[in-house]
Amino acid sequence: MEFITYEQEEFVGIITINRPKALNALNSSVLDELNATLDQVDLNTTRCLILTGAGEKSFVAGADIGEMSTLTKAEGEAFGKKGNDVFRKLETFPIPVIAAVNGFALGGGCEISLSCDIRICSDNAMFGQPEVGLGITPGFGGTQRLARAIGVGMAKQLIYTARNIKADEALRIGLVNAVYTQEELMAQAKKMAVTIAKNAPIAVRNCKKAINDGLQVDMDQAIVIEEKLFGDCFETEDQKAGMGNFLEKDKEKKLKVVPFQNK
Ligand code: CAA
Repeated sequence: MEFITYEQEEFVGIITINRPKALNALNSSVLDELNATLDQVDLNTTRCLILTGAGEKSFVAGADIGEMSTLTKAEGEAFGKKGNDVFRKLETFPIPVIAAVNGFALGGGCEISLSCDIRICSDNAMFGQPEVGLGITPGFGGTQRLARAIGVGMAKQLIYTARNIKADEALRIGLVNAVYTQEELMAQAKKMAVTIAKNAPIAVRNCKKAINDGLQVDMDQAIVIEEKLFGDCFETEDQKAGMGNFLEKDKEKKLKVVPFQNK
């Protein structure tokens, strides 16, 4: 791969978008490689992903403006679909994805972070949807996911004004969960990923699915989704071991990683 690197550290997979000369902007090749990388993640041995950008300046500075500059209406729509398909794959990926936002997260960069389950960032991070200043709308899910993440009024303000915001404001409006120094960011992302990976993998996956699927429907249907995914955990090795350890008051065992069980 030219633009994506993938490393595996025990149960944690780290995807790095690596096109620093263009501040990791997303052209078609980056999107194709990201798609292929997700397809290659071994879900038997990986329990959490971290997504970050190469270099110290930028997470992702958006979709590639050079590539978009000459697109026709039909090509523009197809480019939007290409990005949306990959981002939706990320959003619905069976295991949690943490965005470690290490600098600019503009346009498609903010949007890809919104497709992740959890966002944390470095203190030099900057978020924004500058698209209307370029004569386009956010096209990789920003008009949909930003409002769901931070509320309609704040999302509309950011999108209509195209104003970029710094890490402290992103924290204040709930766009990120925490801000760290550049040096600390990846260590903190890994610490969180390892904490997630220590928990029962089927239960963690089912939580992600319950939260994501439940948000798409009304509460009556959402509760049924939860019931099915809750029930689905029973009779698994994870559930037997997790509850057994508690009932036996075996604190040692309780801290052990519950073995992964294929469904
Ligand atoms: N697309 C293509 N190239 C980009 C890029 C982008 N989104 N962002 C940065 N680059 C390139 C620059 O062209 C430059 O390349 P050269 O060295 O070859 O000239 C290189 O990255 C470094 O960028 P700058 O010299 O501009 O760096 P800076 O520190 O002065 O500014 C910046 C950094 C504020 C992020 C600025 O680069 C910038 O404003 N980038 C564009 C951000 C943007 O508008 N993103 C939204 C894109 S539209 C979108 O994403 C649509 C969608 O929803 C799908």
